[in-house]
Amino acid sequence: MKKIVFSTGAGVSAESGLSTFRDAGGLWEGYDVMAVASHDGYVANPALVHDFYNQRRRELAGKAPNEAHRLIAALEKEGYEVYVITQNVDNLHEQAGSTRVTHLHGELMKVRAVDNEHLVYELKPETVLETTPETVIEGHKVRPHIVFFQEAVPMFEPATALAAEADVFVIIGTSLVVYPAAALLRYVRPGVPIFYIDPNPAAVPDNVTVIRATASEGMRQLYKLLVEKEK
Ligand code: OAD
Repeated sequence: MKKIVFSTGAGVSAESGLSTFRDAGGLWEGYDVMAVASHDGYVANPALVHDFYNQRRRELAGKAPNEAHRLIAALEKEGYEVYVITQNVDNLHEQAGSTRVTHLHGELMKVRAVDNEHLVYELKPETVLETTPETVIEGHKVRPHIVFFQEAVPMFEPATALAAEADVFVIIGTSLVVYPAAALLRYVRPGVPIFYIDPNPAAVPDNVTVIRATASEGMRQLYKLLVEKEK
């Protein structure tokens, strides 16, 4: 079965109403990234960091997957082995039905024990959406299950293995400035088709086919290409 690997960024969730980071009006215009999303920032003011992610959870609560998330999930029913590697901390790929999702930068709806990184707890929207540095779950103080800047990216290695096995590799909605995520395309084998869907794409090597479109429009085009080509 053909393996198709997606590498998605904030742009895939933009049409669901979630802000990207670096576009005009993006999240990093309103916040100091190092204060709310870095390891040093967390140590200096954990309450501010908890609050930033509380706001992100509230923002996610009313949102639904868009057509791009849905078409990615739909490829699983068209005979593709679909893997999604996402920089996003939202769960819209899962909500759309994708079954193999790797989160490079963590997950908004999870927290983990401060004293044991292996104890990860899922937050249930109907119970806890808000956490503070004093929140205790099963006897442990918790922190957002987010990879802060200055922290290691434990899922990067498994992600490179997926990229190296891809028969088709598709990048959607990322400015390709945050490493190591931006380096994933270097692990794709030579000759494997690489597509990049983004209305304002970053510079990419010549072997990448750029689809200058929003995530949903670009996915409609790609879906036709992939599904009709196979039939
Ligand atoms: P950015 O905000 O840097 O880039 C968003 C990309 O989405 C840009 O290339 C836009 O052109 C594109 N875009 C905007 N609207 C779109 C649409 N409707 N359809 C498709 N694409 C669209 O977001 P990321 O590249 O995801 O990390 O940012 C990477 C990381 O930086 C994030 O995971 C986050 C952030 O700091 C952490 O917080 C650790």
